[in-house]
Amino acid sequence: MSMKLEGNILVTGTNRGIGLELVKQLAERTGGEAHIYACCRAPDDTKAEALRDLTTQYPGKITIIKLDMSDEASISAAVQAVKELIGDGGLNLVINNAAINKPDTPAPLSATGKKDMMDVYETNVVGPFLLAKMFLPLLQRAAEMKSPGEGDKMSCRRSAIINISTLISSIEKCPESFAIAQMYPYRTSKAALNMLTRCQAEDFKSHNILVTAIHPGWVRTQMGGEQAPLTPLDSVHGMLSTMSSLSNKDCGMLLDWQGNPIPW
Ligand SMILES: NC(=O)c1ccc[n+]([C@@H]2O[C@H](COP(=O)([O-])OP(=O)(O)OC[C@H]3O[C@@H](n4cnc5c(N)ncnc54)[C@H](OP(=O)(O)O)[C@@H]3O)[C@@H](O)[C@H]2O)c1
Repeated sequence: MSMKLEGNILVTGTNRGIGLELVKQLAERTGGEAHIYACCRAPDDTKAEALRDLTTQYPGKITIIKLDMSDEASISAAVQAVKELIGDGGLNLVINNAAINKPDTPAPLSATGKKDMMDVYETNVVGPFLLAKMFLPLLQRAAEMKSPGEGDKMSCRRSAIINISTLISSIEKCPESFAIAQMYPYRTSKAALNMLTRCQAEDFKSHNILVTAIHPGWVRTQMGGEQAPLTPLDSVHGMLSTMSSLSNKDCGMLLDWQGNPIPW
């Protein structure tokens, strides 16, 4: 089944979990003109074997890009590499999926320190901030390349940033889940990612670049754990359908994988 996403699409954190499934379904479901830049921090490692297999399965459709979201030099090198590959083209869609949760298991305040806070903020907020800043010229070019009839119509086909957030970033909903999963660094970083989404939405709307945060659901991955009710397949299927239908009204919003708004 094809869908309404096309052009040059970049996804971060693609060697496993939701990111790997995003690359798989994008390769399966987009048309022949689409190209996927699948970023991961260790492309030659055994941890990236499943991603390398996808490039063989979909020849010419996926390019693996080395990218460590916690390292500014790595982000800059990845942006340069993608720029050279895209040439005169634009970048239509950036999906900021890579993230960490530290300490690894849901930890209380007593087991959480400064390094956990800083590491998580660096990967989950500073990385997406720098990536979008450095890719802005390519996103602008993609937005301008659409047919003149497009006007100020925003979409993920034209030019968009999707920041993968979480339900537990919601300040309003915090009392519902805090007792079972305190996760100070992760929650606060994703709330900051939501604000980054909102700021970028305001900043980039004059360029017709859509910016939306999406919660993937509670998904069975290394991060989500084995009790999670959703498979990566179902979560990503839902998120890609939601992304396909996003428009101006969704810019600066936090939505779930099925497109329902989540309160800040
Ligand atoms: N699973 C859930 O239930 C759930 C719920 C809500 C939101 N989310 C969000 O969904 C997204 C994907 O989560 P997931 O469940 O797929 O997590 P995951 O299984 O832990 O995978 C995380 C991915 O991010 C990559 N990554 C981590 N740090 C990185 C860095 N510094 N540079 C580049 N890549 C890095 C990992 O690569 P390495 O293998 O190199 O570490 C891996 O590919 C995250 O943004 C997460 O916050 C997940």
